[in-house]
Amino acid sequence: MPKDFISVADWSADDLLRMLERAQQLRRLHRADKRPQTLQGRTLAMYFEKPSLRTHVTFEAGMAQLGGHAVLLRPEQVGIGTRETPRDVALNLSRWVDGIMARTFSHDLVCELAKHATIPIINGLTDLLHPCQAMADLQTIAGVMNPRQATLAYVGDGNNVAHSLILLAAVLGMRIRVATPASHRPDLGVMSQAEDLGAESGAEIFWTDDPLAAVKGVDFIYTDTWTSMGQEDEAEQRREIFARYQVNQGLIEHAPDARLMHCLPAHRGEEITGELLDGPRSLVYEQAENRLHSQKAVLEAVMLTSSAP
Ligand code: CP
Ligand code: NVA
Repeated sequence: MPKDFISVADWSADDLLRMLERAQQLRRLHRADKRPQTLQGRTLAMYFEKPSLRTHVTFEAGMAQLGGHAVLLRPEQVGIGTRETPRDVALNLSRWVDGIMARTFSHDLVCELAKHATIPIINGLTDLLHPCQAMADLQTIAGVMNPRQATLAYVGDGNNVAHSLILLAAVLGMRIRVATPASHRPDLGVMSQAEDLGAESGAEIFWTDDPLAAVKGVDFIYTDTWTSMGQEDEAEQRREIFARYQVNQGLIEHAPDARLMHCLPAHRGEEITGELLDGPRSLVYEQAENRLHSQKAVLEAVMLTSSAP
């Protein structure tokens, strides 16, 4: 098994499905007020360069509920790249704690930390990927139907959330349709990696710039903000580019049974109407809940197999 959880594409379908099964079990246990203490005495360092509600709270609460502890590190305290190098930060933390969860702008920084750390690194979102979100989304889809029989449409920006969903579908052999403007397609490297993985797994991946073609008859429609963290200066321009990609009543009429997904935070009235986000077909709070359980499964998977330096 890989040391780190940086991309779902580093993991096999069997590994991801085992994590899903454990996440489902952990959710049942949690709801029955049972808290298995599998990470007793272990510590996770959490490093955030960007804001967070869900990722921060679910990792911190998740560690505590499994009997462990989490330490929050802010970039201004640590000074990666200014006060000290990523290598020194990784080597120091490896002597004290059992894992690092990092949310960074640069994807390369997370890879650099992983290269030098002897402890596992978990990607809590980079500009390129958001694998923990994809695992919670998998658990949410599995709560409705067999993910391998589901068809999911992603509509909007070809961003980090889209990338991890696409790679997840590619590893697991799912059906995914991705509708983005031609100017904001997913990253070319991610598209080609997904094509390669999909050829092995039997995944059906369809790229289009037409939201209607993507959503027709699907089981799930997923969207994310048009302006990701760090792109705030482009918000105005992005609202124009993505206007025809809004998930609204007119669009979902082409998928009468579809459930609606969004990683949150949402901009109601932009990428999705408030009526739909808060309506009966929305799964957004299931997704948010499953962040807790699916990340506990990830934490166990990487921490219980790693060895001390
Ligand atoms: N979905 C998600 O990652 O939320 P946060 O940015 O609040 O962590
Ligand atoms: N694409 C969004 C996801 C937030 C959880 C961002 O990167 O800001």
